[in-house]
Amino acid sequence: MPTKNRLPLPSVTAALILKRTKLRPRLGIVLGSGFGAVARAISVEHEFAYRDLPGFPVGTVPGHAGRLIIGEWHGVAVALLAGRAHYYEGFELAESTFPTRVLAALGVDTLLLTNAAGGINARFHVGDFMALTDHINLIGTNPLRGPEPEGLNRFVDLTAAYDAPLRKQLKTAARKAGVKCHEGVYIAVSGPSFETPAEIRAFRTLGADAVGMSTVPETIVARQCGLKVAAVSCITNAAAGLGGKGQVVSHLDVLELARQREDVATRMVGEFVRQQV
Ligand code: HPA
Repeated sequence: MPTKNRLPLPSVTAALILKRTKLRPRLGIVLGSGFGAVARAISVEHEFAYRDLPGFPVGTVPGHAGRLIIGEWHGVAVALLAGRAHYYEGFELAESTFPTRVLAALGVDTLLLTNAAGGINARFHVGDFMALTDHINLIGTNPLRGPEPEGLNRFVDLTAAYDAPLRKQLKTAARKAGVKCHEGVYIAVSGPSFETPAEIRAFRTLGADAVGMSTVPETIVARQCGLKVAAVSCITNAAAGLGGKGQVVSHLDVLELARQREDVATRMVGEFVRQQV
């Protein structure tokens, strides 16, 4: 695992990628649990294993393969990150968000982040989706901690971290795909243990609608790089304590529900991409 100060310049890795493809994607997509099928829907122009890209984190979670795919979908050039490295795996946030910086260096100006999350809002049902309106960072650290990258502001404004017009496009996409898409606040925790019922009650009081272990670091870095950000969660389970008597929150159940929603999730993301021409 590389350490923070040994990371290459994102522009160096980006140059390596751009040498191998003619496409110049302006849209980046990060695939979380439940969105993996998107990688099979796009027509691939070039594919890179993370291990061949300097600075890219090689994750350890099954189902997070670690490939950067450059391709076309509905006539839109896209850069797809299939597989993300999580803080709970032991990566520093500067490491796990390095691919986001590379997307920006490639020329991407719009980023769609996807994830699986536990539902806190009582109106959410398992299998629904949620477009993020805002987030609460409870990971306990920040990806911008450390030296200020040259030419970038470290005191990033997050008052409108999630782009409102893009969120509207997500809602349109959900309608076209025939899926329920709420709006709400995502609270990010470090994991890897799931939450206690007391934590979930506290998060609800804090104003959170869904809880997960990703996305927020990428949003912060993307905003520092000037990208417009949209993010969507697949609600894979009721958060701890909200699933009724005898509930257990299990990673296997999260993956199983995510798998069941992959097809509709892919249709929804496709309808979002169609609006980016
Ligand atoms: N908590 C945290 N992360 C998650 C959950 C959850 O309930 N479900 C999917 N990712």
